Amino acid sequence: MSNDLNPSTQHKHKIIVANWKMNGSEALIKEFSKFQQPKTNDIIICPPFTLLAPAKILLPDFIKLGAQNCSGEGSGAFTGEISASMLQESGVSHVIIGHSERRSLYKETNSIILKKVEAVLKSELTPVVCIGETLSEKKASKTLQVLEKQIDASIAKVNAQTRLIVAYEPIWAIGTGLIPNEDEIRKTHLHIKEKLNQYFNSDIPTLYGGSASAENCSKITSIENVDGLLVGGASLKKHDFEIICNC
Ligand code: PGA
Repeated sequence: MSNDLNPSTQHKHKIIVANWKMNGSEALIKEFSKFQQPKTNDIIICPPFTLLAPAKILLPDFIKLGAQNCSGEGSGAFTGEISASMLQESGVSHVIIGHSERRSLYKETNSIILKKVEAVLKSELTPVVCIGETLSEKKASKTLQVLEKQIDASIAKVNAQTRLIVAYEPIWAIGTGLIPNEDEIRKTHLHIKEKLNQYFNSDIPTLYGGSASAENCSKITSIENVDGLLVGGASLKKHDFEIICNC
C-alpha cells in the first residue's frame, strides 16, 4: 500500500453535513433561515422527516437538504417507512445511511444498509454511508478490520462512481466529547481511501464524524484525506454550526 494519496485527489471544498437526529423544531428552522453563507464549503442539513417541508421553504438555497434514513424498499405495505423516491420528491439530495444509532438501536445490518444505499442511488440521491468501530473494537486494535468489513459489505458492491459519500464515525466518539488523535484520524482516513480506491474509479469524499465542534473543526478538516465533517450536537447551535461551516 502507498504511504499517501496524490494531493490532487484532496477536496478543496469541504462537505459539512448536519445530523439533527430526533431534535429540532420549526422554530430552529426559522433561526437557521438567517444562516450566513460560508465562503466555499458545501452544507447539507438533515433534519427529522417532518421538518423537511418547512426546511425546504425557509432555509437559504445554498443549504442542501438531507434525510437521516430511508427504506430499502421502493413502495408498498411497509407501515411507517419512507422511500428514497418520496425523499427525492420532497427536495432532498442526500440521505444518511447506516448511522451507528441505526445499526445498534434498530439492528440494521450491513446487508440492510447495502439495500438502502442502492435504493438511494436508484432515486438519484447521494448516500452518506456511515462506518465506524466501537470502543472495544478499537481497544482490540480491530478498527481497520471492522471498517474494511463494513466497506466490503455495505458499499463495495454498489455502482456509484459519482454519487457516494462515506462518513467515518468512531462510535465511541459520538456525543462523548472524545475524538481520536490527529495521527489516528490521518491513518484511518488514508486506509479508508485506499480501500475505496480499490472499488471506485473516482475519489469518494470521506468525512469525519464524532464530537466535531466549533473548537476542533479546523484542526480536523486540515488532516489529509478528511473531506469534511458529519456533525451531530454542534449542528443544532446556529452560531457554532456557522463556525464549523467556515472551517
Ligand atoms: P456528535 O454526533 O457530533 O454529536 O458526536 C455525530 C453523529 O452522530 O453523526
